[in-house]
Amino acid sequence: MLTRRNLLQAAAMAAVTMLAGCSGVRGGDADDAVTPDQAAPDQTVPVEDAPGAVLVAYFSATGNTEEIVQALAERLGADAFAIEAAEPYTDADLDYNDSSSRTSTERADARPELAQVTPDGWAGYQTVLLGYPIWWGEAAWPLRTFAGGNDFAGKTVVPFCTSASSGIGDSGAALAELAGGGDWRDGERFPAGATDDATAWVDGLGLA
Ligand SMILES: Cc1cc2nc3c(=O)[nH]c(=O)nc-3n(C[C@H](O)[C@H](O)[C@H](O)COP(=O)(O)O)c2cc1C
Repeated sequence: MLTRRNLLQAAAMAAVTMLAGCSGVRGGDADDAVTPDQAAPDQTVPVEDAPGAVLVAYFSATGNTEEIVQALAERLGADAFAIEAAEPYTDADLDYNDSSSRTSTERADARPELAQVTPDGWAGYQTVLLGYPIWWGEAAWPLRTFAGGNDFAGKTVVPFCTSASSGIGDSGAALAELAGGGDWRDGERFPAGATDDATAWVDGLGLA
């Protein structure tokens, strides 16, 4: 028999389901696909088939990496997540000729605080393209916080960078060590504005 309590519970469940289904960002959708509340176990959509299973996560201080990211995300139909320092880097902070600038003083081992460490829907992504500028031959410092602060187990990670001239070097390997998990692949370096090269590269990864 349906009691008033049963009806209230049913209404509450329906409201939760509707809210979860309206999460708006594609990352949320990917999570929804594997959330037990959203489907009976035998109806669960495999994560690799879920929309938004590829994430392009990136940090960009002056826009070069972001321009590449926009081309890649559009090519793949993937979600993009901006890694942002809680306190954004100013032009003065980025002055590598000033030994007392923020980037200079953080260089040794700082892990700057991030505005958001873990992207929405993180658990639903199988592949993460991880983009960053090279700072003194390494991944820009916010990547340390991102790599060390997230669980990469079960994910394939493909680093890429932009730089004035330096190669990607072992910046990806250094981040992999901080992450302590995940299947980290060899990365690629692009000069500013190389969107055609970047889309050709991502086509070769077989992700689309
Ligand atoms: C603090 C700092 C250090 C840098 N170090 C290097 C470097 O070692 N090698 C290099 O080729 N470019 C270096 N650059 C240039 C950036 O890697 C390059 O401009 C990059 O495309 C910036 O990306 P963004 O616009 O996404 O921040 C450095 C830039 C900054 C601000």
